[in-house]
Amino acid sequence: MVRRNGQLDELRLRSYPHHYPDGWYRLMTSKSLRRGRIRYLECLDRALVVWRSEDTDDVHALLAFCPHLGANLRDGRIRGNRIECPFHGWKFTGNGRAASVPYSDSVPTRIATESFPVQEVHGQVFMYHRSGGPKQRADDEVPYPVPRVAGIDDGSLVFRGHHDEGRVAMHILEVAENTVDYAHFEHVHGQMTLPWTQVPVPGVRLQHLPEWLPDDRDPWAIHFRNEASLKVLGRSMPWSRTKVLVTFAGAGNIMNFRFEIPDLGEIALIQTHLPVAPLEQQVDFRWFASRRIPRPLAWYVVGNLVAQLRKDVRIWSSKVYLEHPVLCRDDGPVVRLRRWYRQFFPD
Ligand code: FES
Ligand SMILES: [Fe+2]
Repeated sequence: MVRRNGQLDELRLRSYPHHYPDGWYRLMTSKSLRRGRIRYLECLDRALVVWRSEDTDDVHALLAFCPHLGANLRDGRIRGNRIECPFHGWKFTGNGRAASVPYSDSVPTRIATESFPVQEVHGQVFMYHRSGGPKQRADDEVPYPVPRVAGIDDGSLVFRGHHDEGRVAMHILEVAENTVDYAHFEHVHGQMTLPWTQVPVPGVRLQHLPEWLPDDRDPWAIHFRNEASLKVLGRSMPWSRTKVLVTFAGAGNIMNFRFEIPDLGEIALIQTHLPVAPLEQQVDFRWFASRRIPRPLAWYVVGNLVAQLRKDVRIWSSKVYLEHPVLCRDDGPVVRLRRWYRQFFPD
C-alpha cells in the first residue's frame, strides 16, 4: 500500500499541471476477464465496470453507476451481451444505452451512460480516456490505436513473463520527464544493483548514453534511446553494451521497450501506468522475447529495469513539479518534452 505524506502530498498535488492525460491505459490482463465476468475499477478519477459478453469475446467499459437511480453495476450480471443492473434489472448495451426495462415498455434509449473505447492487445485490456469535451462513447473515434509490438503477432517474440509492481507513489508525468533528464542517469542509475533489488554490486557502475527523439510520423509518440554498459573497478566493459529503444505512446501510460541482445535477439517489454489516484500509479510489466533468449536472461534484464525504476520512485514519491525549473546548459530537453505532452491535456 502506498504511504501517505499528509501535507507534503497536498503540496505535491497542487504542483502538477494535470493528473490524467488523454490516451490509452492498460486496465487488466485479458485472462483476468473471462466471458460473462464483470470487473470493477477505480482509476482516472472514475469508477468503472469492465465486462466481457457471455457469448462473444467483446469487452466493454462503462461508468459503474447505473443511469437509472445510481446503483453500482459491479454487482450486476451479464446476460448475453448486456449488463443487468442489480437494483431494478435494467439491461444496458456495451455503448451504455438502456436495452430493456423489466417492468415497462418505455425504454429511455436516448440517454446513454458514459462508455469508453476498449482494445485488447497482446493479452491486455486497454481503455481510451479523455478528460475534456463531451461524454465519451465506446464507438468514439480515437486519435491512435494501442500500438502493437513488432514481432509478437508473427510469433518471432514469445510471451516470457508478467510482473505486477502494484501501486506506486508517483505522478504519471514523472516517467516521461525521466527520459529527458539526462543528468540523473549517472547520479541515480550509476550504481549496479542485483536485479529486482536495491542491493548494490560493489565495484560495478552503469554508464548510460541517453538520447530523446520525437516521432516525425506519429505526434502522440516519442522515442528514447539508451546505450548502457558496465564499468567494473573503473574500467569500461564494451562487451556489456546493451541498446534499448523506448517508445512512449502517450504521456507515460504505455512504454514499449526494445532491448537488443547481441547474437541472441530482442526482448520487448511493455511497461504501463494506470493512475488510481493523482499521486498513485498501478504499474505493470509484460515481456516477450526471441525464442533463443533464455528465460533467466529476460528475467535478469527486466529485473535490472525494475530495480532502477525503484530508485527513481524514491525521488518521485516526495518531489514537486516545478513549472519553471532552473536548468543549466547540459540538462536534457525538458522544456521540449513538456510542450510535447501538453497535447494530452484538455484545452
Ligand atoms: S438503478 Fe439500475 S436499474 Fe434502477
Ligand atoms: Fe530514472
